Amino acid sequence: MVGEMEKTIANLSSMRTHYCGHLGEDDIGKRVSVCGWVAHRREHGEYLAFVDLRDYTGIIQCVVEGSIDVRPEWVLCITGTLRHRPVGTENEYLSTGMVEITDCELEVLSKASPPPFPVEDRIEADESLRMRYRFVDLRRPKMQSNLRLRSALLQSLRRGMVDRGFCEVDTPLLWTPTPEGAREFVVPSRLRRGEFYVLPQSPQIAKQLLMVSGIDRYFQIAKCLRDEDLRADRQFEFTQLDIEASFVEAEDIRNIVADVVLEAIEAVTGSDIGPVGVLTWKEAIDRFGTDKPDTRGGMELTDLTSCFAGTSARALSAPCVKAIVVPANHGDSPLSRNMLDGLVEHAKSLGGKGLAWFRVTRGEDGSLQLESPLVKFLDDEEQGGMVDVCHADSGDIILVVADEWRTACEVLGGIRVQLLNEVLLGISNGSGKSDTVVVPDYVSDASTASKERSLLWVTDFPLFDGVDDDGNFISAHHPFTMPHPDDVGMLEDNPLNVRSLAYDLVLDGWELGSGSIRIHDPDIQRNIFRLLGLSMEAASARFGFLLDAFDYGVPPHGGFAIGIDRLTALLAGEQSIRNVIAFPKTQTGYDPVTGAPKKLSPAVLSELGITVRSPHVGQ
Ligand code: AMO
Repeated sequence: MVGEMEKTIANLSSMRTHYCGHLGEDDIGKRVSVCGWVAHRREHGEYLAFVDLRDYTGIIQCVVEGSIDVRPEWVLCITGTLRHRPVGTENEYLSTGMVEITDCELEVLSKASPPPFPVEDRIEADESLRMRYRFVDLRRPKMQSNLRLRSALLQSLRRGMVDRGFCEVDTPLLWTPTPEGAREFVVPSRLRRGEFYVLPQSPQIAKQLLMVSGIDRYFQIAKCLRDEDLRADRQFEFTQLDIEASFVEAEDIRNIVADVVLEAIEAVTGSDIGPVGVLTWKEAIDRFGTDKPDTRGGMELTDLTSCFAGTSARALSAPCVKAIVVPANHGDSPLSRNMLDGLVEHAKSLGGKGLAWFRVTRGEDGSLQLESPLVKFLDDEEQGGMVDVCHADSGDIILVVADEWRTACEVLGGIRVQLLNEVLLGISNGSGKSDTVVVPDYVSDASTASKERSLLWVTDFPLFDGVDDDGNFISAHHPFTMPHPDDVGMLEDNPLNVRSLAYDLVLDGWELGSGSIRIHDPDIQRNIFRLLGLSMEAASARFGFLLDAFDYGVPPHGGFAIGIDRLTALLAGEQSIRNVIAFPKTQTGYDPVTGAPKKLSPAVLSELGITVRSPHVGQ
């Protein structure tokens, strides 16, 4: 789908008539000019050479007579006549494989050093080398297609927003701290020495101000900046489709976002992956052990708490007992003892006390039996109950975690993700904090990955995530998130059980975006600040400008933000957002192309009133 438009561009430029990859049998006999990089060059005797010229659309073979001096990655303009390739020399694997340019005039536009790695997808160059020579890496067809997919996605999303009456507004990059949880990048002010701007984590507060201004429906393709640990799905700077609307309820925002996202996915992949499923946060944790579930692949969590009420097995005596059943046909071979030991360690690294496992076998009398170091602590009723509730069969393995509800679910959720990834890809991504977010290979081709995707809303998030060391509640989203109207009465006595009007969009196990209805009632807002341990003075020092603005007539409003990098990576079948960003940072926050961050000269520092005390920390 992507790239179709360029084929229709007439009179490409004064230097060329066609893109290399667009030439075909329809153009036979035409005098054509193409420009690009030398992909290969092959000599045929002393006076004949084949030059494969590449631009982002593909490669065209040019037959050049006479002795020439061109090398890989030199930039050429070749003018010649297109003809059918001689019978027997066609290449059916190349889109231009039926034709070639002959009778060539060749102009060298620039020479090139030998490339640091071959410009081909199937060459696996080391990522650090690719990052260092990103400008060459981006010539590779897959990287070209990723960036063009991103561009097409952005165009479609933008069109979708405009069609729905949203107004595009740019908000400042030189901004003030906002309460969204991440560490912020600061920018020193030269004119106001000793004072600092902060780069926005997102346009959250600015877009809420725009609602006070009557913009009504705002959107922006916004650069956001957060100084947080870099991972496969996180960069310091990333792009959001940021949305806010007035006089709306959560459902309205979700409908708009779903429509726009589904339209964009269909526009770039040709696939309709709707409709979007819905799970409440509680269901998501209970069934999948995560608030960003990938619902494909089965292995949902089963509740065994009632089977083990009053058990004498200490390992299973807990407020909640959860299990997953690894089916006998999981992967190529049954889980070995070593693999089970590995899973136990993994469960511990996820915060569990351990992981119990039970191998289900069929005894000589035909009944199902359990094998496990723990079996001797369980009576027959407990064993039978576990097998029944899990619907387990011979060859299955039941994995069990006993703990508080949330811990039991989340530990097993982590184990589930690990097992699914191993089955689908043979890759282990450990704690979920790895540098590679695993994308099953069946989603790697955007155009065929349709029904197999898992796209859903997770709603009814808790308002608070827990309590900090000072006994103050911690916002799960941000302090302007509206509590669920049915739960407002619990704010005093049971705040941790209060739900919010916050919702996430989850695609294939990645959090794609999140949003909420905001508080526009000053009494509720004051109450939330109090629970967060934020005095009105402190709140007004931090975002008094927003609270002041609310005094001038604030409409009920809510919004959402979609992570463009993550959406593109998933559609492109990439395991890291680095592969859909032109110039990403490495995991240590370094830009290998420019060498940033860099030291500044004493003169610049002094102008800013800055003295650097600690030495430069290496890359
Ligand atoms: P949130 O912080 O959840 O919400 O961000 C929304 C989406 O932005 C993407 N994202 C990132 N992508 C790459 N690298 C990062 N470091 C990164 N951080 C976030 C994710 C995420 O789901 N202002 C609110 C939205 C709102 O309430 O309207 C916000 O920014 O895809």
